[in-house]
Amino acid sequence: MTELEIKVPASPVTGCKIKIGTNILGSLWKEIDSDYGKLSKFIVTDENLVSAGHLAKLTSSRDVPHFIISPAGEISKNINTVISIIEAMEKAYLGRDTIIIALGGGTVGDIAGFAAAVFKRGVPVIQIPTTTVAQADSSVGGKTGVDSSLSKNAFGAFWHPVRVYIDVAALASLDERQYRAGLVESVKHAIIADSEYFLFLENNLDSILKRKPDVLKKTAYRNCRVKGSVVEEDPHEKNKRRILNYGHTIGHAVEAASGYELLHGEAVSIGIIAAGLIEQEMGLAEHERLDRIRKILKKLGTPIQLPKNITENEIIDLMKRDKKAVNKWPKFVLISNIGEVYTKDGQYAVEVKPEIVKKILKEMKKD
Ligand SMILES: NC(=O)c1ccc[n+]([C@@H]2O[C@H](COP(=O)([O-])OP(=O)(O)OC[C@H]3O[C@@H](n4cnc5c(N)ncnc54)[C@H](O)[C@@H]3O)[C@@H](O)[C@H]2O)c1
Ligand SMILES: [Zn+2]
Repeated sequence: MTELEIKVPASPVTGCKIKIGTNILGSLWKEIDSDYGKLSKFIVTDENLVSAGHLAKLTSSRDVPHFIISPAGEISKNINTVISIIEAMEKAYLGRDTIIIALGGGTVGDIAGFAAAVFKRGVPVIQIPTTTVAQADSSVGGKTGVDSSLSKNAFGAFWHPVRVYIDVAALASLDERQYRAGLVESVKHAIIADSEYFLFLENNLDSILKRKPDVLKKTAYRNCRVKGSVVEEDPHEKNKRRILNYGHTIGHAVEAASGYELLHGEAVSIGIIAAGLIEQEMGLAEHERLDRIRKILKKLGTPIQLPKNITENEIIDLMKRDKKAVNKWPKFVLISNIGEVYTKDGQYAVEVKPEIVKKILKEMKKD
């Protein structure tokens, strides 16, 4: 198992150990039990993880109190699910001496993490991510929360896991479209912080797509290193952590404009290309750089053009409502090189005129 640790300042959890391996799910219980023997365990997972056999593997079919989210996915990422989880814990006579174990993708991790943050004013949580999104992104960094009927992540808390266990073999059962879309966050990590990692992705994408464990372990390690170091520096997203939003300003708007038909990673793939075109327009990039990025996303098979049924105006309008917008217009994360974010006056999110955005969106609709 490969290990790394990230420090989390200003948090009740001072350090978060991340362990990465292949086929480790079956042996984790022993380790969790020896590290947290005094605590009662409560597992939160979803129906697809159960049918794929991952819950049984984790518990070795022991009878551990648990909650199975159903239906799986974003539709259940709401406060009612959190209430059900907390009440299930109370019914099982669990108290503050409990540790929650989240087994699943980003929705399970976000819901279970939030339940841990608020159950009896907070109990520890272990994240066992099982999707490409969760292994690269959501399990590390402490953001937890659920959606309201109006907006995503309307309820939330920073609640860092005490441990993250990444079993890359768990990805074997993940649906192909989800698998590929989640890898966009890995490409994003390489673009913003690690040019060597970008090269690694260029050279190893075939093996990654074949889900070869060795290369997936390396990918997971690089992702955690990038995300971990950004989070260590800026745990509460005052400035530097915003670099993780690369490709997301337009990406979020595209995701919403598609009526959530596009997966998050697919929309971010479009957003990454949009950011690259903005960089070119602002004189921050040569064509060759964007070609490299385009090539990798093309191979991933995620979209790199705006869907025909989405208009520029729709996107602009949605961007004005971006939760990070100031005076109804969001700032952008851009890069100056692969592996290096562009900064202006010490800020990682910079101004881009709406006219530039309109122009590149038009370009992105051409064949
Ligand atoms: N907290 C953060 O920092 C952060 C970062 C990125 C994304 N997110 C959140 O993550 C969520 C998206 O995460 P996701 O894409 O993992 O979605 P998800 O949890 O809904 O998983 C996608 C689908 O795959 C299934 N699944 C998961 N693992 C599987 C496996 N190993 N085998 C078979 N099926 C499996 C799930 O049941 C679900 O149907 C969003 O709600 C997003 O807001 C949070
Ligand atoms: Zn994202």
